Amino acid sequence: MNEQPVIAVLVSGSGSNLQAIIDASERGEIPGRVGLVVSNKADAYGLVRARNHGIPTEVVDHKAFEGREAFDAKLVEVIRASGAVLVCLAGFMRVVTPVFLRAFPHRILNIHPALLPSFPGTHGPAQALRYGVRFSGCTVHFLDEGVDTGPIIVQAVVPVHEDDTEEALASRILKEEHRIYPMAIRLFLEGRLAVTGRKVSTKGVGKIPDFSRRNPDA
Ligand code: GRF
Repeated sequence: MNEQPVIAVLVSGSGSNLQAIIDASERGEIPGRVGLVVSNKADAYGLVRARNHGIPTEVVDHKAFEGREAFDAKLVEVIRASGAVLVCLAGFMRVVTPVFLRAFPHRILNIHPALLPSFPGTHGPAQALRYGVRFSGCTVHFLDEGVDTGPIIVQAVVPVHEDDTEEALASRILKEEHRIYPMAIRLFLEGRLAVTGRKVSTKGVGKIPDFSRRNPDA
């Protein structure tokens, strides 16, 4: 029996962040295992990644429900059945309602491809390019009732080059996402995160080697 705490991961697409989380777990870098992957899209490649690692999957198609609350209630049901202590949104392209948020208070994380509070919503890398910022990056945060507004756990910075395309910037950011999402999960599962209002304090973070690692692309 594997007694590690269960993480549920929600995806809508490629699932490269899911893969980073699975890999970190299999390498023993986070004290938990992905015990369920849920997608609102039956053809999400993230589901294939999960199956490749023997991880149970569920498809909950939002189009089959009357409204957002009914869809969220079904998500809550399948996640609860998995026994998950942590829910990670990883490219999950649905806005969730309080039905979902209140079921897992302070236990839902999200990753966003921009340095919040700049460029929330969709197309973070494209927004950063259009605005002309010199640096962008990614953010792991607790989910709250707004769009990409919850308390920030970890961020990583990447440079924006003058000749960048959206794809080039997005892929530079994605590389950092794969590094910081497992890091945030590890902090959560180690019980090191305390939320006070907007602020997240990270007890003993100085002892985690990864935090002092320089961004190799910077
Ligand atoms: C990532 O850029 C993530 O920040 C955003 O959606 C993308 C998902 O990529 N929320 P993947 O499915 O993890 O490859």
